[in-house]
Amino acid sequence: MKGAVFTELFDYVEDAHGPEFLQETIDAADLPTKGVYATTGTYPTSEMVSLVSVLSNSSGIAVPDLLRVFGEHLFGRFTVSYPALFEGCDDAFSFLASVENVIHMEVRKLYPDAELPTFETAVHTDTHLQLIYRSRRHMGDLCEGLIRGCLAHFEEEAVITRTTLEESPDSVIKFDIEKQPK
Ligand code: HEM
Repeated sequence: MKGAVFTELFDYVEDAHGPEFLQETIDAADLPTKGVYATTGTYPTSEMVSLVSVLSNSSGIAVPDLLRVFGEHLFGRFTVSYPALFEGCDDAFSFLASVENVIHMEVRKLYPDAELPTFETAVHTDTHLQLIYRSRRHMGDLCEGLIRGCLAHFEEEAVITRTTLEESPDSVIKFDIEKQPK
């Protein structure tokens, strides 16, 4: 996982709970890198899992919930860090359906070794988007948070239903994102 994602997590934790709490979290996670990440470097996803586990223990919030909340926050950060990727897109479904062939392709140009999931858009109507997430990194909860963050950014409301299709070695999850009639 890219150092940039770790530093976003650190900024988020530090803003919410202060620098001492962040340092205690890093120490308790006992990381091989000691929590020193270069933005463009690539580090084991297991370090993210360790950090989130420590945060879960200290906050009492379950790991999936923490990853969802962080994913939602991370999407907001992407809107600030990569404004060019949002040009010409004014709805959540179009944006989400373009992650595989446009957004993450641009990410790969910036970071050739990025470890990205794949998405298949199986259904795309005005009211229903079905995305099939596949990744060896099992970040379905982060993914759900990013989807929620995207809906919030475009000020849209939808119900997200998750169905696990495969668990190992890849995590394959079907996300049905459905807008409710107004
Ligand atoms: C401007 C928008 C976006 C940018 C700039 C972006 C960028 C990135 C970057 C830099 C990573 C880390 C790659 C690595 O650590 O090697 C990543 C991973 C990931 N992205 Fe995106 N992303 C965007 C939108 C989205 C959206 C909307 C979704 C969900 C539909 C998504 C799903 C994921 C997931 C789940 C991962 C974790 C890695 C994995 O599961 O294999 N991204 N993305």
